[in-house]
Amino acid sequence: MDMKTLIDKLEATRDLTDGEFLALLTCTGEDMAYLAEKARDLRDRIYGKEVYLRGLIEFSNYCKNDCLYCGIRRSNGNADRYRLTAEEILSCADQGYELGFRTFVLQSGEDLWFSDDAMAGLIRALKDRHPDCAVTLSIGEKDRPAYQKYFDAGADRYLLRHETADRAHYEKLHPADLSWDHRMDCLQSLRDIGYQVGCGMMVGSPFQTPECLLADLRFLQAFQPEMVGIGPFIPHKDTPFKDSPPGTLTDTLRLLSIIRLLLPEVLLPATTALGTIHPTGREQGIRAGANVVMPNLSPRGVRGKYLLYDNKICTGDEAAECVNCMKARMESAGCRVVVSRGDHPGYRKGDA
Ligand code: 5AD
Ligand code: FES
Repeated sequence: MDMKTLIDKLEATRDLTDGEFLALLTCTGEDMAYLAEKARDLRDRIYGKEVYLRGLIEFSNYCKNDCLYCGIRRSNGNADRYRLTAEEILSCADQGYELGFRTFVLQSGEDLWFSDDAMAGLIRALKDRHPDCAVTLSIGEKDRPAYQKYFDAGADRYLLRHETADRAHYEKLHPADLSWDHRMDCLQSLRDIGYQVGCGMMVGSPFQTPECLLADLRFLQAFQPEMVGIGPFIPHKDTPFKDSPPGTLTDTLRLLSIIRLLLPEVLLPATTALGTIHPTGREQGIRAGANVVMPNLSPRGVRGKYLLYDNKICTGDEAAECVNCMKARMESAGCRVVVSRGDHPGYRKGDA
């Protein structure tokens, strides 16, 4: 089968054989342009030209984990640690609301200083102030009662990248005290509780093979997440992977398009990491079928401290500057950002 026939088959059936997926993962040039066009057209049929904004509030870079790829891993003694207060977090959100954000993403390392009750209180306070907004959590692995508590406090969505669907690969990226099974259990709990769930992986992470990516695609097909966060791996100078090559723009764009065709309604961000490896990475991500961007709302004073990888963009800009910049970027990609919660089409809170 030639590549275009494969792409048509993926669009029509949302499935391919293993061999076909592996072939598609190598497409380039004209074939890749065709893939992007199909993905973009499908995105347009579902979401039009509307791109959803998520206001990212990176509220703590303390982390008890030691993931080998991550710049805020606990053993990085060079990381300049910070934690925002509840008041600071709420004030970021207030500012974001004025700028048109209707989703706030609370992201942090796994920082045990914030108890489950403290998190629940924060979520409730945020929902009280902005009842028309969605709250997304991205705070790592917790036990099921904790996830339930946050949900009951009003959290709508949860991002927990699976990082890789290949167990042996997972073990090469993480220390022994982190387990692939536990990560998968967490995702299942989140799903059972009724969150809109986001998973995802880095593209080009150390030891990643085409078979790892195939396993990721099979996992996405089976799990049917509402959101998928993918971006290139980028080395951080204070980690064991400091000399590993970064993931590429082409590989990331190709995967974004494949994921759009696999999960037509998925919420798919063009990530900051994609914007970091190429000046127009996020715009190209949108052109490849993404429909979400996540500008940073963290206070300027801490922006430069939440560094998972080197050369992160937008660390010196005020939130308002970032939003205006993003609006222009999305327009240059043929889209427009909208003031909306931007829920997954299949989602109603309370149904679960
Ligand atoms: N390069 C790119 N992405 C990274 N992440 C962590 N470290 C890096 C890195 N060095 C991603 C992980 C994590 C998410 C918050 O950021 O996939 O889940
Ligand atoms: Fe942040 Fe451009 S999006 S400065």
